[in-house]
Amino acid sequence: MNHNILASILAANFAVLGEESQNVLAAGADKIHFDVMDNHFVNNLTIGPMVCKSLRDYGIRAEIDVHLMTSSVTSLIASFAAAGASAITIHPEADIDLECSIAAIKAAGCAAGIAINPTTPLTKIENVLPEIDSVLLMSVEPGFGGQQFLPASYTKISELKAILVRQQLSCKIVVDGGVNIDNAAKIIASGADDLVIGSWLFNHSSYAEAIAKIRRAIIN
Ligand code: DX5
Ligand code: ZN
Repeated sequence: MNHNILASILAANFAVLGEESQNVLAAGADKIHFDVMDNHFVNNLTIGPMVCKSLRDYGIRAEIDVHLMTSSVTSLIASFAAAGASAITIHPEADIDLECSIAAIKAAGCAAGIAINPTTPLTKIENVLPEIDSVLLMSVEPGFGGQQFLPASYTKISELKAILVRQQLSCKIVVDGGVNIDNAAKIIASGADDLVIGSWLFNHSSYAEAIAKIRRAIIN
């Protein structure tokens, strides 16, 4: 099975984000993972639709998956779709109308994802699984890169995989937070499809070597 590696540009050098994105894709990353934080839903503030559009204008053609860690999503969905986002992922913990937001993401022409925090039970998202393309299973509390992977995530990945198999759903499991060479194989073996990697990848002087190492580790 082909597992996608998404480069979380939160760990990139923002002063040269276009170049960083291009380099990490040329090194073998499949997609860009674009973390949006509003200093309200999480205690950090990052980048918005203008930066997404700048990456498109710079020439980034790969999929850009937008992870919205924001309290309100309504206007951002339309703005990110217009800015060239390929997929938009939202959090049920944000107290938003999940069904309406998913419908808005699809109507805007993007793939729809739901992100779920480490302490949020899977029951919170079970009813929307048939509507979405991916679950972004958070293996750290959202807000910052460079945190330690929470080992309880392995069980949660397996449980989600079992639900998807039981319901014959094609929704993908993407794991986000603290992914590195020591845990990637076990995350995939637990049932994950794709991996988001930030700090571990961008801390390497050779992105190509880092991605090749991960790919070797997850070949089964
Ligand atoms: C955390 C973000 C993650 C993070 C991943 O709130 O959603 O995407 O940047 O980065 P690392 O791999 O450093 O945990
Ligand atoms: Zn993320």
